[in-house]
Amino acid sequence: MSFKNKVVLVTGASSGIGAATAVLFAKEGADVVIVARNETKLKNVAQECAKVGKYPLVIKADVSDDDDDRRIINDTIAKFNKLDVLVNNAGILRFGPILDGQITEQYDEIMKTNVRSVVRLTSLAAPYLVKTKGNIVNVSSVAGYSISDKAAAYCTSKAALSHFSRASALELACHGVRVNAVSPGPVNTDIFANSDTIKTFEDFGVKTALNRVSGPEEIADLILFLASDKAKGITGSDYVSDNGYLLLK
Ligand SMILES: NC(=O)c1ccc[n+]([C@@H]2O[C@H](COP(=O)([O-])OP(=O)(O)OC[C@H]3O[C@@H](n4cnc5c(N)ncnc54)[C@H](OP(=O)(O)O)[C@@H]3O)[C@@H](O)[C@H]2O)c1
Repeated sequence: MSFKNKVVLVTGASSGIGAATAVLFAKEGADVVIVARNETKLKNVAQECAKVGKYPLVIKADVSDDDDDRRIINDTIAKFNKLDVLVNNAGILRFGPILDGQITEQYDEIMKTNVRSVVRLTSLAAPYLVKTKGNIVNVSSVAGYSISDKAAAYCTSKAALSHFSRASALELACHGVRVNAVSPGPVNTDIFANSDTIKTFEDFGVKTALNRVSGPEEIADLILFLASDKAKGITGSDYVSDNGYLLLK
């Protein structure tokens, strides 16, 4: 699945699923743009991309900031003159009970990062994607389909993201732009370390039918497939890759 001469922008590329996705696209020959806040981690991922393909454009940015979102798209176009694929992967996980009185602040933080940034980047990138007949892959979650205890805001954000993916798929289809989502189950990444809990999947008793947790590369493979011409007939879909997690819910 060659992405030679394709420009691929991946948000949240400093670790986990986003990092694996950036490296995979680089390996397939793409000009990759990697975005996140942690510059040191981004530079490490850039080195990994360079080992298998080209050194990417590195953009240190906070996707929850409107000005940063504009800069992400402007810098991408200034460097490569086009955009073929947007992977909206940046996301945060937070836990908190409704009764502790903090849910509103938590909801605002999560929705700004997990949903509003995707709405904004989609709108800023869309004119360029129309020109290339490109596509978008949004990284949602099985949390959009099932409830994890005391993660109401996170689950709500992922349900909203999956729905926004379908809405944007319909709206952009007449311009030849595809939009899909992937909904992973548990994946071994820094997501818990970057959250507000010291717990892990094991502490939460997370179970999957296949009795395994995925590696980030498995989700990257799925994203690459959806972004490729092999998926030219796929839009408005939300692909679950969860080791059978939802079967047990
Ligand atoms: N791991 C799982 O089990 C799982 C399951 C289902 C869905 N997902 C989804 O997969 C996506 C990737 O998560 P992950 O598991 O790979 O976790 P991760 O290792 O914590 O990666 C999250 C990425 O998002 C970036 N990010 C967070 N807030 C940002 C912001 N405001 N601006 C720019 N970048 C931001 C982080 O970079 P910086 O901190 O450097 O900014 C990091 O690169 C998320 O949307 C998550 O909800 C994960």
